Amino acid sequence: MITKEQILTFVQQLKDPHFKQSVTKLNLIRDIMIKEDSVSLTFVTTEEGDSYKEEMRQAVLEILQGQDVKQVHIRFRMITDHERNQIQQTMQEGDGQQEAPAQPSQPSAPSQPSSLREPLLETENVNFIAVASGKGGVGKSTVTVNLAVALARSGKKVGIVDADIYGFSVPDMMGIEEMPQLIDNRIIPIEKFGVKVISMGFFVQDNAPVIWRGPMLGKMLRNFFNEVEWGELDYMLLDLPPGTGDIALDVHQMLPHSKEIIVTTPHATAAFVAARAGAMAVHTEHEILGVVENMSYFECKSCGEKEYVFGKGGGAKLADELNSELLAQIPLGAPDNHVSEADYSPSVYKEQSATGQLYMEMADKVISKLEKL
Ligand SMILES: Nc1ncnc2c1ncn2[C@@H]1O[C@H](COP(=O)(O)OP(=O)(O)OP(=O)(O)O)[C@@H](O)[C@H]1O
Ligand SMILES: [Mg+2]
Repeated sequence: MITKEQILTFVQQLKDPHFKQSVTKLNLIRDIMIKEDSVSLTFVTTEEGDSYKEEMRQAVLEILQGQDVKQVHIRFRMITDHERNQIQQTMQEGDGQQEAPAQPSQPSAPSQPSSLREPLLETENVNFIAVASGKGGVGKSTVTVNLAVALARSGKKVGIVDADIYGFSVPDMMGIEEMPQLIDNRIIPIEKFGVKVISMGFFVQDNAPVIWRGPMLGKMLRNFFNEVEWGELDYMLLDLPPGTGDIALDVHQMLPHSKEIIVTTPHATAAFVAARAGAMAVHTEHEILGVVENMSYFECKSCGEKEYVFGKGGGAKLADELNSELLAQIPLGAPDNHVSEADYSPSVYKEQSATGQLYMEMADKVISKLEKL
């Protein structure tokens, strides 16, 4: 199967007519998705005309068909002013960086933030949603990943920042095995199920523990926003570490407009501890979108009866305390996925499964809350 890197290498011969440089070097080829022998990608153009798009479409088709790709779907979109300025600035700086794969090295991989460089993520139009909990292990990462995938399945452009810098788990949960590329000094997030992902896990070798002090963590997170080429996003989900520690506080301060989802299990003590995360959201004036009760019940396959293994009512009570709503009750049960599947991922529920549908409903609720006209 062809890889993203190969595609980028093959199309690098195409030159952008305005900047007179390779479209790959200018990072105009985005969102590459590969499924068996079909490829889809976004082509960012600097020319309005249909004839230019047609010419590029033909050129990409020819190049990829020569590589045994049967179907190619290309979405064209015009470059934004911000992107144009970014390219101009980079060219003026004349740093002449060549494309190179990101080194999966120690956490210094994303370079230090430069005060001169504007954030690559234009935050005005992005809905940030931080997923928090009081206790560990209640399913924050599972909820983050599945809500993100459900939003993408609903046609939204979605990113995840795995902000659990010590306990990163998103890449494994989604079955991501590649490393992000570094193109023109920008980190290209990994895309899976239509969701762009960045995680500390990409920059740590052999699952080595990350040992830093507080201030480093804040810097790292900032780099995840500033040095990563996110492109356009509708939603950015942040998987927070458990509790109300430094990182959670950093995120709150860094993203004052972020909304929050609080995850709890139905047990009364879990909900009580989760209330602390809720209290922090209230303190930092973050709007709480709602509560997700995870591991709510176990549904007996043969009789359909629900057993409330971890107790009952914690989510509803917490939602009530936080003056918010219970967005969903997700039952116990691992996704019905198989290692042999092309897009295997241990923690992503299939769209048609019962839990997959609960996540689609959750995505609908989130969309209507945030995009109400
Ligand atoms: N509804 C569920 N049914 C069965 N297993 C689940 C469910 N939700 C989560 N799990 C499993 O429970 C474990 C903890 O989930 P997860 O990692 O999402 O929690 P977390 O709150 O992010 O944990 P941490 O605090 O360590 O970051 C994982 O092994 C996950 O696969
Ligand atoms: Mg987690």
